[in-house]
Amino acid sequence: GKMKKIVVAIDGWSSCGKSTLAKQMAKELGYIYVDSGAMYRAITLYFLRNHVDWNEKKAVKKALKDIELDFRLNEQNENVEIYLNDENVEYLVRDLIVAEKVSEVAAIRSVREFAVAQQQKLGKKKGIVMDGRDIGTVVFPKAELKIFMTADNAVRVERRFRELVEKNPNITIEEVAENIQMRDYIDSNREVSPLRRAEDAVVIDNTKLTQEEQLKKALKLAKNITG
Ligand code: DC
Repeated sequence: GKMKKIVVAIDGWSSCGKSTLAKQMAKELGYIYVDSGAMYRAITLYFLRNHVDWNEKKAVKKALKDIELDFRLNEQNENVEIYLNDENVEYLVRDLIVAEKVSEVAAIRSVREFAVAQQQKLGKKKGIVMDGRDIGTVVFPKAELKIFMTADNAVRVERRFRELVEKNPNITIEEVAENIQMRDYIDSNREVSPLRRAEDAVVIDNTKLTQEEQLKKALKLAKNITG
């Protein structure tokens, strides 16, 4: 028979492999994958490009009216990519320049309201895997499956460094470590929707797990619910 479609919410610290797991899960389940962090990154990119002073509430609200975000499938690599006002910014939003400011921007209430409303709309029909910081606590508090990911600091820094150095050979491991530490601090200490493990979230610590092992674990959790 037809399998029940659910919402899978994946939250956790920066560079814990959330998006890797979320993408693979979505593929296996035939679900949509949504990278909520990419939305905050795209908004940050817009603010940087247009010199929007995000400490000014009015300027932020005005700028948000000019921002349209959507996700489109890249047929070549089968990835879902983020578009900012019809421009593919999937690559640009991964830049350290954006990473350095995104936590500040993501802490702004009106920015979060803007992003969360769109995220909730995308999840209306279920059959979705979304990763972020507040997906199980705020965006989909009734998600059928909530996963909270964590990993040792050194492992996270190493993984992210290897990813970023490919694009930017001048980057140092210290810069990456500092950025991860700073984002974790801001993300978990902000006033609006701070990063928290939902009470009903299952913790996956992937310090010593391979990608296959994590995926197997997560899929088992999902199958227990969908039947
Ligand atoms: O997952 P990521 O590293 O791409 O997220 C970028 C930033 O966006 C992160 O530092 C915190 C913020 N974020 C958030 O506040 N809420 C989300 N649901 C997702 C990301």
